[in-house]
Amino acid sequence: MSMDILEVIKSRRSIRKYRADPVSEEEINKILEAGRWAPSADNSQPWGFIVLRSQEVREKLADILTWGSFLSRTPLGIVVSVDPEVSSHHVEDGAAATQNMLLEAHSLGLGACWIAIYGEEYEASAKKLLNVPEKERLVCAIAIGHPAETGRTTRRELGEVSFIDRYGSR
Ligand SMILES: Cc1cc2nc3c(=O)[nH]c(=O)nc-3n(C[C@H](O)[C@H](O)[C@H](O)COP(=O)(O)O)c2cc1C
Repeated sequence: MSMDILEVIKSRRSIRKYRADPVSEEEINKILEAGRWAPSADNSQPWGFIVLRSQEVREKLADILTWGSFLSRTPLGIVVSVDPEVSSHHVEDGAAATQNMLLEAHSLGLGACWIAIYGEEYEASAKKLLNVPEKERLVCAIAIGHPAETGRTTRRELGEVSFIDRYGSR
């Protein structure tokens, strides 16, 4: 059953509990393809996607990113790294690729969650663990697996977040 893009967008939720079964090579490839085809400033494509296949590496990264500790109980992770020298909008580029990958994972029936990488010391530790060159910036880690929970977030009303012609005008 194929889903309309808006249905995919609206039904995606951050998933932080996963079943143990692995994500297939075909699924991994599709998720990476979704990232690769994201828009980027001047089509600079400043990203590198580090696929975390090793449980040991996921556990070590989870120890650094304690707000994403569930990464140690996740069958797959992808870290998004960007090169600030290649794009003037490297963070936005990395974020666009991340969202594409979250949506593709969801459309494949997988669950995923964006895990922030912020704070100089945490980022430096993560870069060291993953052999990421000094000049790169880490945007996030994405946890991916077969979902063992359903998310239940809501959103602010459209009328509350949209304006006509001028900010605040409805
Ligand atoms: C920039 C960004 C950083 C996030 N960082 C984390 C994080 O470190 N840990 C986490 O569990 N969720 C993280 N999330 C997921 C958000 O908590 C989640 O998207 C939000 O609560 C809305 O829930 P939903 O994705 O289920 O709709 C992050 C999301 C974004 C966009």
